[in-house]
Amino acid sequence: MPVITSVINLKGGVGKTTLTIALAHYLAVEHGQRVLVVDLDPQTNATIALINERRWRERDQRGQSLYQLFKDWLDGSREFEINQAIVQRTSNVMGGIPGLDLLPSSIRLHKLQDKITKASDLDEFRDGSVYTLRNVLGPVIGQYDHVLIDCPPNLGIITLNGIAMSRYFLIPVVPDILSTLGVPLVLDRMADFALRARHEIYGLGIVVSRYRPQSRLHKQTVMDMRRDVIPGIHPPVFETIIHEASEVAEAADVDVEVANLRQKFGGAGPHRQFSALAREYLHQVMS
Ligand SMILES: Nc1ncnc2c1ncn2[C@@H]1O[C@H](COP(=O)(O)OP(=O)(O)O)[C@@H](O)[C@H]1O
Ligand SMILES: [Mg+2]
Repeated sequence: MPVITSVINLKGGVGKTTLTIALAHYLAVEHGQRVLVVDLDPQTNATIALINERRWRERDQRGQSLYQLFKDWLDGSREFEINQAIVQRTSNVMGGIPGLDLLPSSIRLHKLQDKITKASDLDEFRDGSVYTLRNVLGPVIGQYDHVLIDCPPNLGIITLNGIAMSRYFLIPVVPDILSTLGVPLVLDRMADFALRARHEIYGLGIVVSRYRPQSRLHKQTVMDMRRDVIPGIHPPVFETIIHEASEVAEAADVDVEVANLRQKFGGAGPHRQFSALAREYLHQVMS
């Protein structure tokens, strides 16, 4: 079975999608891992970053996105086909990376969210609404070493589908006060869900992202976070810190072919950081 990790924070703009995409790239290319990225966010940022908007639209129209999966759950239909929905060899690095696959999201998921919530048993999940994703991935999951789930900044029923199949979660944070305030909330909600769904999930770590070394606030906040870690309660703060760099933001462009990861993620600094992040991630999930 693969290692399944949800990348989550209830705050937007903290680097969840960027981190998911980068980690997936480095695991696949530098470690030869077979990786599936599941994009649960209706903003479809991870999807667009891996296959571009045109390809996503075609697939979404054909029912090859998560929209169809959750629509089936609501309607009792069975249109969604997992093998057709998964896109293989995604990314603009080296003409597509073998072992970097994507299960695309859809902006139309927005529309479904409320309807699914109304139709679900949110107390104990006896109707299986949180296991829709896990069930459909069942036949193919064994083909992967890692599944990385990019979550939207909420804990609605669609996000819970990701959490319910994850062994781990990873919390990206920007080290300022407002962003770090959200961490205890995520931990609390994870613990609550674990209890209700009787599902064990572990906080693998907090990853500092968009770090600005010249900011005193950022420096101080990282120090505070490392100091406040309570073993067994707080997940550790990863050693690796991802700095704010304009090249990282540009790495989301999937339309221009690039030769390697260094070129994609923008020069020496970001490349070194993401490479270190993947090593640290592997070390954490193996230990
Ligand atoms: N390390 C970074 N350096 C510069 N910009 C970044 C970095 N990480 C993310 N960004 C940019 O910040 C914005 C939010 O990042 P994103 O990964 O989409 O966050 P989230 O998924 O948490 O909403 C995006 O425009 C992204 O390109
Ligand atoms: Mg995102």
